[in-house]
Amino acid sequence: MKKFISMIGICAFCILASYGCNHKQTALSEKGGIWAVYDRECRECHKASGKGSLIGRFIFKIPNFTNTKWQDNVSDSRLIISVANGKRKMPGYKGKLKDEEIVDLVKVCVRSFYPPQGQ
Ligand code: HEC
Repeated sequence: MKKFISMIGICAFCILASYGCNHKQTALSEKGGIWAVYDRECRECHKASGKGSLIGRFIFKIPNFTNTKWQDNVSDSRLIISVANGKRKMPGYKGKLKDEEIVDLVKVCVRSFYPPQGQ
């Protein structure tokens, strides 16, 4: 009986989770894959636009991911290390997220805010 109840509990949890009982989710998650992680972990500070929250930009120096100069001057490896270990006001995600997720967050999400010329 106990097992049965916990089974129902787990099912209910899964259903709620997959139907987005998490109010913080936005349309970003609908892009799927790594974007759901960005939505959950990064959007609060970096925003769906990648420009960073207004206060964050002025006080915490959140970089504007849509800035061409910024994108040109930072390497993937530096960004991956920053996300993994944290940087000043940004928490580190090593251990919290998988290594592949941290790499994808940089290579897929952060870089997507800067489409190469001509696109
Ligand atoms: C609590 C707010 C906060 C959250 C959540 C957050 N960041 Fe940041 N992020 C910052 C701040 C502040 C900076 C600027 C750090 C600095 O240069 O002092 C930053 C900087 C960065 C940079 C640039 C690092 C560099 O070397 O210049 C990247 C890339 C980045 N964040 C990606 C992410 C990703 C990916 C996530 C989600 C896993 C995330 N951030 C979550 C606040 C946050």
